[in-house]
Amino acid sequence: MQTAVINDHPLAYCDAGEGIPLLLVHGFPLDHTIWDGQIDPLSRRRRVIAPDLRGFGQSGAADGTVTMEQFADDLAGLLDHLKICEPVVLGGLSMGGYIALAFWRKYAARLRGLILCDTRSAADTPSGAADRETLAQRMLAEGAETTVELMLAKLFAPATFAHRPEIVEAMQRVMSRTNPRSLAAAVRGMARRPDSTPDLPQIACPTLLLVGEDDALTPPAEMRGMAQKIPRARLAVIPEAAHLAPLERPAEVNWVFEEFMGALDQLKKSFPIGLKLSS
Ligand code: MLT
Repeated sequence: MQTAVINDHPLAYCDAGEGIPLLLVHGFPLDHTIWDGQIDPLSRRRRVIAPDLRGFGQSGAADGTVTMEQFADDLAGLLDHLKICEPVVLGGLSMGGYIALAFWRKYAARLRGLILCDTRSAADTPSGAADRETLAQRMLAEGAETTVELMLAKLFAPATFAHRPEIVEAMQRVMSRTNPRSLAAAVRGMARRPDSTPDLPQIACPTLLLVGEDDALTPPAEMRGMAQKIPRARLAVIPEAAHLAPLERPAEVNWVFEEFMGALDQLKKSFPIGLKLSS
């Protein structure tokens, strides 16, 4: 891991390989290690950059509210720091997907392609946003264990709990050591994110949507609806995976990522909806 001060904040990031950059953005309340199944294999053929967002992992703690736009500004600042001027492929999982959409809104010219994993375009409902504030208060009062208790069971497919307990334990450790003020700041930022659904038809770059078939937090049906609104989108549904599909099923996910990015490398013009590994 390397560190840099980006927008006055210490940010840790992993930067491996060479070639067209793939920037991978983790979800809440995790860190870049959700991409452990991608960083090594994919960086043999291209440059992979995976930051710990402000407040998470080895980056400096955050406070107050961090909006999705602020996170996106940090990503743009990181690309500037790395002197990357060419358009990148940006992949985001769940909250990372909200951030990817915020990045697209502000920095579309810096994008060659978009990968939206286990995420949604809709904003929180008013009651959902109110629940987030209650959750933020609880995290501040009770610490990170509240987050672990609420989230752990929802992140993984039954097959992952049965056969890969080590990744469940690893994510539990990541959540447990996150600063509660940083957790609350991101929760408040998520509550403020706009509805990106009306924007989807304007996304001009090739877009891959990927979701675990057992994802109950951002279900395949919702992502299929998003794919139908994005002009150059394709959807991949990953069997025996839930909300952390790239970590749960790295081989399948890497195959889909490589296939998408290989097509981008050849500057193919059309990306029809329809790639599916399962229904
Ligand atoms: C995530 O995985 O990033 C979160 O579940 C997203 C959310 O809480 O909306």
